[in-house]
Amino acid sequence: MLEDLKANNAAWSAGKTEVDPDFFKRLERQQSPKYLWIGCSDSRVPANEIVGLDPGELFVHRNVANLAPPQDANYLSVLQFAVDVLKVQHIMVVGHYGCGGVNAAVDGVRRGLVDHWLHPIREVFESHRAELEAIPEGRARQDRLCELNVARQVRNVASDIFVQDAWARGQSLCVHGWVYTLGTGLVTDLGVTIGGRGDYGMLPTL
Ligand code: CO
Repeated sequence: MLEDLKANNAAWSAGKTEVDPDFFKRLERQQSPKYLWIGCSDSRVPANEIVGLDPGELFVHRNVANLAPPQDANYLSVLQFAVDVLKVQHIMVVGHYGCGGVNAAVDGVRRGLVDHWLHPIREVFESHRAELEAIPEGRARQDRLCELNVARQVRNVASDIFVQDAWARGQSLCVHGWVYTLGTGLVTDLGVTIGGRGDYGMLPTL
């Protein structure tokens, strides 16, 4: 099986080089992506492929259920590098319908460490309990929780001091919330974009 992957890699590299002989040489010197993607680890949500971007064009952070927890050193390191050094212009928090992580947060089953990782999603559920419980239990309610989780993570990113400081310096930066549909391959913009400090208190409610 792994031999297939190595063969795929050799073919991919050769194909890229054939179309553009300097492709990898250019990337070796520097990366200058304009976007940071914060998405779910789910294998069905491949960041670059979904938005048609080449290596070097998208800075990517993925974890279970696309969280942006303000105490997570991994996420914060990625965020700071993307904002302060790469100076990305757009950050997309990208959730997806049918997210196993989001469902696992609220299904009552004990799984171990991941239950702690998913704690922020139970908080999102609590803050929107009335709205969510008005939706019949099942797929529609789960999908709504996926959307609310994205909106919450957008807020986390926008309120982070790295992002707040970038806006204070006059840096151009927008934080967006998207959700991906596994069954169609399409991304939907949830309309919760925050583009500056003035917007923070006015985050549209989903
Ligand atoms: Co997921």
